[in-house]
Amino acid sequence: MITTAIYPGTFDPITNGHVDLVIRASKLFDKVIVAIAINPGKTPAFSLQERVDFAEQTLTGMTNVEVCGFEGLLVEVAKQKNANVIIRGLRAVSDFEHEFQLASMNRKMEPDVETLFLTPAEQFSYISSSLVREIAALGGDVSEFVAPCVVTELKAKLLNSSNKG
Ligand code: COA
Repeated sequence: MITTAIYPGTFDPITNGHVDLVIRASKLFDKVIVAIAINPGKTPAFSLQERVDFAEQTLTGMTNVEVCGFEGLLVEVAKQKNANVIIRGLRAVSDFEHEFQLASMNRKMEPDVETLFLTPAEQFSYISSSLVREIAALGGDVSEFVAPCVVTELKAKLLNSSNKG
């Protein structure tokens, strides 16, 4: 039996913290699908296609990892992709309440899909996509937090928009 896990998120953009979790998950499962939600409610800074491209470039070379964009319910995508595990990251206790709610709701909708929580390495426990975007928009150095291809794109998009504003 092939074990497939789905790792969903907005990934706006993918950070080294996300990558750390993908690497951990890829050692536990035959296949890991990084599923990028369109998530209009979060009004992402980058389009779905841009976020998918960033993730593909960042995770290039990881043979059992696939990236896809999605719209609609996560549990539906999990079923379509034959994934019986949802991976979510817990960075701090403050993540728990929201994650517990999501996991419980997903289980209610699809009892056969389990949510598994992984913790990132300590040095990534304080990274979030929104902080990375804020630092980049204000001209700070984000090279420690995201892959080199993302650094360039963040500067090009966010630094320009904050200068115009
Ligand atoms: N390292 C670094 N940062 C991490 C991280 C890690 N390991 N894990 C989470 N984060 C950060 C993210 O960067 C993000 O930061 P931000 O808030 O500053 O952008 C934050 O933690 C959490 O965001 P994310 O992981 O993208 O989750 P989300 O809460 O935005 O996404 C979905 C949640 C996409 C999984 C959820 O909305 C979903 O399933 N949507 C599909 C529709 C659906 O099924 N809805 C019903 C759900 S019950």
